[in-house]
Amino acid sequence: MSAQTALAPTFDVEKIRADFPTLAREVNGKPLVYLDSAATSQKPHAVIDRMTKFYSEEYSTVRRSIHLLSAKATQAYEGTRRLVAKLLNAPETRQIIFTKGTTEGINLVAHGFGRKFVGEGDEIVVSATEHHANIVPWQMLCNEKGAKLRVIPVNDAGELILEEYEKLLNERTKIVAVGHVSNAIGTIHPVKEMIALAHAKGIRFLVDGAQAAPHMNVDVQDLDCDFYVFSGHKACGPTGIGILYGKVDILEAMDPFLGGGDMIESVTFEKTTYAPIPHKFEAGTPAIADVIGLGTAIEYLQGIGLENIAAWEHELLEYGTKVLSEIPGVKIIGTAKHKAAIISFTIEGIHPHDIGTLLDNEGVAVRAGHHCAQPVMARYGVPATARASFAFYNTKAEIDALGQAIRKTIEVFA
Ligand code: ALA
Repeated sequence: MSAQTALAPTFDVEKIRADFPTLAREVNGKPLVYLDSAATSQKPHAVIDRMTKFYSEEYSTVRRSIHLLSAKATQAYEGTRRLVAKLLNAPETRQIIFTKGTTEGINLVAHGFGRKFVGEGDEIVVSATEHHANIVPWQMLCNEKGAKLRVIPVNDAGELILEEYEKLLNERTKIVAVGHVSNAIGTIHPVKEMIALAHAKGIRFLVDGAQAAPHMNVDVQDLDCDFYVFSGHKACGPTGIGILYGKVDILEAMDPFLGGGDMIESVTFEKTTYAPIPHKFEAGTPAIADVIGLGTAIEYLQGIGLENIAAWEHELLEYGTKVLSEIPGVKIIGTAKHKAAIISFTIEGIHPHDIGTLLDNEGVAVRAGHHCAQPVMARYGVPATARASFAFYNTKAEIDALGQAIRKTIEVFA
C-alpha cells in the first residue's frame, strides 16, 4: 500500500459523520455501517440543502433566458465548472464538460473521438482491470470500425504489467483507456508513467477517474492525460452528473456526441455549425440542480481537504486489511502495493451474495457481485466477490463491526 500524506490534527471523523444524515440511521435494527462508497457515496446536508434551495427558491433554466432567475441559475451552473476546473487543475474552464456520469463521458469520447479518428485495423488499449464502462464503449467502436481491442495484463497482486503494456503500443494504437483506480480490486494504476509512454508514441490517453477523483488530489496537467472522467455521485454529489475533462485541441477536433439545443452556433436545413467547447458537447437542458449540487459537494470535499481524505482512507485501508487478513477463510483479492480504500474478498465455502445478505442482517452494507468488472473476476478465477469500500466518513469501529459480522457469517455456515 502506498504511503500517503499525514492527516491534519483538525480532521475529526465524528464531526464529519454528523454532516451525513443517512449515516445516523439503522438497518435491520443495527446501526448502519456503510461500506459501499465505491458504488455511490452518501450525501452531506450541505449538498441536500443547496439543491432544495435551488428547487424551492431559485429554480430556472440556464443559458436560454435573460430574466433574473435564469441569469442566477447560469451563474451558479458555470460556477461549478470553475470549481471542477480548479479541482482538477485544468488550464481552462472550457475544458470541463458536464455529462451524466463517467459512463457517458467515456461513451462521448468513444463516439466523438473514436468515430472520427479510429479506423479499420486500428487498435485501442484498455487494461484487464477495467469497469465495463471502460470496455463496452470501446468494444462497440471496434465492432463498428473493424478495429481491435488490446488488453494490458495484470499480475496476481492486481498490478498492470508495464513491460507488456509497452509492447502493446504501436503505430496502429489510437487511444489507451485505463482506470486511475480499479473499482473491483482497488489498485491505483501508475497512469502518469503510462501516459508518458503512450505520448512518446503519439497515442491519446483517457483516464477513468471514477474511483480516484473523490479520494485524492488529481492534477490533469501533471498527469498530462488527454481525457479525465469522473462521476458526481461518488464524490458526495447528486446522481446523473459527471465530468469530462479534455485537452483543447482534441475537444475542438472531435465531433459532438448529441445534437440538439444549446450545442449549435447556427442551424439551417442544409447545415449546422456547432458552438465552441464546452457547449458543443452539452445538448439539451442540462441537469442544472445536479450541477449546482456537485459544486457544493466539491466545496465540501475541499473544505475537508483531499489530502486529509486520502490520508484517513489509507489508514482505514491498512486497518481493514489487517482485520480481514486475521480471519481464517477470508481471502483478499487485490493486494497491490498502491491501493485505494477498497477491499474485495471471498470467504471459503460461502457465496459472495450470501456474504452480502448476512452482513446486511448485521447492518453492514457491502457490494457483492462482479462489480461491473467480469473480466477481473475471471482473471482471479472467481464469479464474484464481496467488496468493502471506505470513504473519509468511515471509522475503525465500523471496520471492527465488519470483522465481527464476517466472523458471525462464517459461524452460520460452519
Ligand atoms: N462502479 C460502481 C461500483 O464499483 C457502480 O460499484
